[in-house]
Parts: sequence; structure tokens; C-alpha cells
Amino acid sequence: MTNHQELLDAQPKVQRLRQDFPILNRPLVLGGKPRTLVYFDNAATAQKPRSVLDAIRSYDENANANVHRAIHSLGEEATRIYEASRDRVKTLLNASSREEIIFTRGTTDSINLVAQSFAKLLSPGDEIIATEMEHHANLVPWQMVADQYGLKLKFLPITDDGVLRIDQLPVLWSPRVKLVTLAAMSNVLGTINPLEEVIAFAHERGVPVLVDGAQSVPHMRVDVRALDCDFLAFSSHKMGGPTGFGVLYGKKEWLEKLPPYQGGGDMIRSVWLDHFEANDLPYKFEAGTPHMEGAAGLHAAIDYLDAVGLDWIHRYEGLLLDYAMEQLKGIPRIRFFGTAPGKGGIIAFLLDGIHAHDLSAFLDSRGVAVRAGHHCAHPLARRLGVVSTARASFYFYNTKDEVDAFAAAVRDASAQL
Ligand SMILES: Cc1ncc(COP(=O)(O)O)c(C=O)c1O
Repeated sequence: MTNHQELLDAQPKVQRLRQDFPILNRPLVLGGKPRTLVYFDNAATAQKPRSVLDAIRSYDENANANVHRAIHSLGEEATRIYEASRDRVKTLLNASSREEIIFTRGTTDSINLVAQSFAKLLSPGDEIIATEMEHHANLVPWQMVADQYGLKLKFLPITDDGVLRIDQLPVLWSPRVKLVTLAAMSNVLGTINPLEEVIAFAHERGVPVLVDGAQSVPHMRVDVRALDCDFLAFSSHKMGGPTGFGVLYGKKEWLEKLPPYQGGGDMIRSVWLDHFEANDLPYKFEAGTPHMEGAAGLHAAIDYLDAVGLDWIHRYEGLLLDYAMEQLKGIPRIRFFGTAPGKGGIIAFLLDGIHAHDLSAFLDSRGVAVRAGHHCAHPLARRLGVVSTARASFYFYNTKDEVDAFAAAVRDASAQL
């Protein structure tokens, strides 16, 4: 079967799935004309299916109470819902134990947790390796601790096509390297990095690896035991779950070694006026009343993604990407950023001579929502030699017809702007 045929054959399934997303079916009036929304800003945040909206609402309507502290039935029910979500994340990731699943505010919070805690185990002059394609969330937290503890940051470069120069890993390596941190998939280039190779190289030298899974966990099956990563961070809102909620997976032996990140309720076993004893995992890293609706919603989002099929999602987004690239390629003045083989469903592009913001405003007037800017990756934009790009990013509920509408709008922008 050709990829075209496979894409066409998938459309009835996608149309059925779209019925689960109220926002995708909302009426839109632009310039006085009715339009259907083409939402291609999924790398920024994804839309939520009704089952997630229901789970959040149901938690608040039927079970809301503070978790872990109550001896009353409602509090016990709230705790059951919150902890069931942790078990669900554990099975999603194939983690070894529920103690390895820490609930956070999102990818950014998860990486700050590791950076702040891990750096306390390091000495001045120790080194951390990241890459040139990192989101600020996997860059600035390391800059902050590098400043605080006298650490040195080193960066794996990329090729002009946006492929990670993994050949440079042995060149950058030194006995002072204590951690490697990198995105599974770039939020600008769409490049899917060779995590297995990086992890094997670092582990042979006894060094742990943190994976920024913000763009991978929503779009493909991620098995932390098969991957053997030491930490994995991701956000609920990029996979159809609620905002302000996310996960840090950490291998138990590492989480046990790391000191707590924030202090407050729930993360303690006992407190005296002058000191405290930290709680057991995973609570040691969960200070304060958590985002309980977030846990309920993420549970529903994972159930939804599993029912759709994460392997199918990955395959389908690849078909959409290939089709979109075919439609866009011949458009005069178009330039792409990131053409790594096997990349994920993200297209960063420009029309020469047109500012990305003008391009995105033009597309918006046609009902097509794309992002324009540096996409929280200033150093990567500098490496690519641009200030900003437009970015279309797909999710499994996007259709071939939407790609056609998008390509037609880009073609018109090229002719008219
Ligand atoms: C690769 C990557 N890392 C980290 C983040 C930060 O995620 P959040 O803002 O949900 O914490 C993003 C968000 O765009 C991302 O794409």
C-alpha cells in the first residue's frame, strides 16, 4: 500500500476521533466568514478529548478533598483517584515501580527538580552535556545550577539539516562529565534523537541521562526500561491532559540519592523546629497540595491515547508529515528548518522575505493556527541563522484535508505577501 493510500484509509478513523474533541468542532468566524479551525499548534499544547474534560469535572463534582491527609471517606476517594493516576503512568512508561513516578507541574518543573537536586551532588568543575537543539526548559535550569555550583555546560552540535552530531560525544567527553541531558524530539526541528546510542555511551562511563520527553511521550510509545534512561520529563497538556501538570520518571536508585527539591507539606515524614526528615518516594518530591484534577485528567488522557494506539499515532503523524512536505515543497520562497530522516510531525518553515509573524497572521486569517517565533529555543534559532520561524505541528486528530487547506494558504501567502 502506498503512503497516500494509507493516509486516505486512515481518514474515517480520524474523523471519528475528532468527534471526541469539542474544540475541534467549534464554529469559527474570521473576517465575517465562517471557517473551520485547523489547529496545527499541537507542539505548544494539544486539545483535550471529552473524556478528559469529564474526568476533571467529575473529580471536582464528586471527589474533591485534599489527598493523603484525610481520615474521611471523601479524602480517601480523592487519594485513590490521585494514586491510581500514578499507577496508570507507571504502566504507560513500563516503569519498575510507582515510587519512580513523581507528579510535577510539567516538563519545566520536572527538569528544574533534577537540575536543582542533582547539582547538590556535584563539585565545581563537573560537567553536564546538553545539545544545541534544547528547549529553554532543558537549558536555563542547567545554566542556573552551573552558575550556582561552578559547573561547566557542553553542547552536542547539530548539522545544518538538524541532525544531532552524536559523533561529537566522544570528543566532548571527559571524566568530569556527570550527566547528559537531551530532548527525545526537538520541538522546532522535529528531529528524533538517537537516545539509545547516547544512553549506552553514557552508561558505559557510569553517567546518567535525562530525557526531555515533552515531544515524545504524547506521540509514540516510550518504555523507560527498554530505553534505560535515568530520568524522563513530560507534560500532561501536550498529550490531551490538563495544564499545569506533568511527570518526572526517575530510576529509584537515583531518586533515593537526590535530596528533596522543595519543602512543605507531604514531602516530610517528621519535622522539628530546626530540621526535617524527608518522606519516602515518591512523596519526598511532591511538596504541598498537588494538582489533583490534573492527575484525574492525565489518567483519562493516557487511557484515551492507549485506546487510540500510540504506535498508530506515531505512524499516522509520519504519513501526515510526508504528505504535508510533498504539498509544501514546490511553493516559491519556502525554506524548511529540520529535515532529519524519520523526524516527527513538526514543520518549521519560512517564506523568504516574509516575517514569520506576518506569515502566521496570514494563515490565521484562513483559519490555520500555527506558531511563529523562536519556540523557546533561542540558541537553536541562532544556530539556524534566523530570528523566528513559523511552525506547524500535527497530532493524530489532524486530517489530510487540513493539510490541503494549510498548503493552499501557504501558497497564497507566497503569492500575495
Ligand atoms: C521539547 C520541550 N521541552 C520542554 C518543554 C516545556 O514544557 P512545559 O512548558 O509544558 O513545561 C516544551 C514545551 O514546548 C518542549 O517542547
